[in-house]
Amino acid sequence: QDAVKVLGIETSCDETAASVVALGVDGRPEILSSIVFSQIDEHAAFGGVVPEIAARAHVEALDGIVEAALGEAGVGLTDLDAVAATAGPGLIGGLIVGLMTAKALAAAADKPLIAVNHLEGHALTARLTDGLAFPYLLLLVSGGHTQIVLVRGVGHYERWATTIDDALGEAFDKTAKLIGLPFPGGPNVEKAARSGNPRRFAFPRPLKGEARPDFSFSGLKTAVRQAAAAIAPLSETDVADICASFQTAIADTLNDRVSRSLDRFRIEFPEVRDPALVVAGGVAANKQVRTTLEDLCRNRGFAFVAPPLELCTDNAAMIAWAGVERIRAGLVDGGAMELAPRSRW
Ligand code: KG4
Ligand code: ZN
Repeated sequence: QDAVKVLGIETSCDETAASVVALGVDGRPEILSSIVFSQIDEHAAFGGVVPEIAARAHVEALDGIVEAALGEAGVGLTDLDAVAATAGPGLIGGLIVGLMTAKALAAAADKPLIAVNHLEGHALTARLTDGLAFPYLLLLVSGGHTQIVLVRGVGHYERWATTIDDALGEAFDKTAKLIGLPFPGGPNVEKAARSGNPRRFAFPRPLKGEARPDFSFSGLKTAVRQAAAAIAPLSETDVADICASFQTAIADTLNDRVSRSLDRFRIEFPEVRDPALVVAGGVAANKQVRTTLEDLCRNRGFAFVAPPLELCTDNAAMIAWAGVERIRAGLVDGGAMELAPRSRW
């Protein structure tokens, strides 16, 4: 059997990315190139991602980035087995740019097009990096998503938990904004928290102890707003204490919420000897979040799998890899050429 090579394109948010991933005849995957252009500088002045600016920046950057990804991998369009692109969910302008570009490339080179769900990309990354076997649990904590997903197989996903309001990364970003820290908030909150007192503010742990497995973060954000208003103007120490208390509330909440799904996995899959929890999304970069999840997994007998950060956050290697997985699973047909991008999928 020949090696499989797939070009992946990702444009669902504020990263313009392209990558070539190969599956060797020995069954080993290899990332031949992975280029990610972050638009963060273009959005920073607005305190968040502006969809119209993102779409225009994707148009400008994508051609060059695809060319660079092919060049670095040393392959031409004719060497590819397929072109894969994120078709949703995400910002519609960016999705249109990425999917239409992929359709044009696929049509020109007469290769199959694979429309990938962005979340499927995150869900399958641990098989690219760690060769993880199905089934396993995925905790996705990014700026747009907070979910626990049961990954049963390629194309077989079950959402076990989701946020009923803000995404976790969004909670970090909004909290940062409230207390005057720059966008993106997550890394800045983490930095400020290092010198803060995590016990100064008793912020709420939303849904903690409840049987439903979901997440909620908007109440926490409101509590931060009220605490900040009560002591304004904030000193540097106040900011640090708020960040440390906020982050500890998050870690504590995650610990409780995620443990529900780990327990459920044990009950539903008693035959799985070495269960695993995979994390993905930008918030997985947070040290305290990571340590909390690591400890939780150790206590429950789960392996804690955290792909390298550049593959945890938005990238195109995960989209190319999802394409490889779909080819291998026989899930590629001609239908994708007619598919329209879906901002909610
Ligand atoms: O997965 P990601 O790079 O992109 C999308 O959501 O599309 O996640 C970005 C999110 C942002 O909300 C950012 O503030 C958060 O991840 N983030 C962090 C950290 N680094 C990034 N949150 C907490 N601590 C961090 N160190
Ligand atoms: Zn993502």
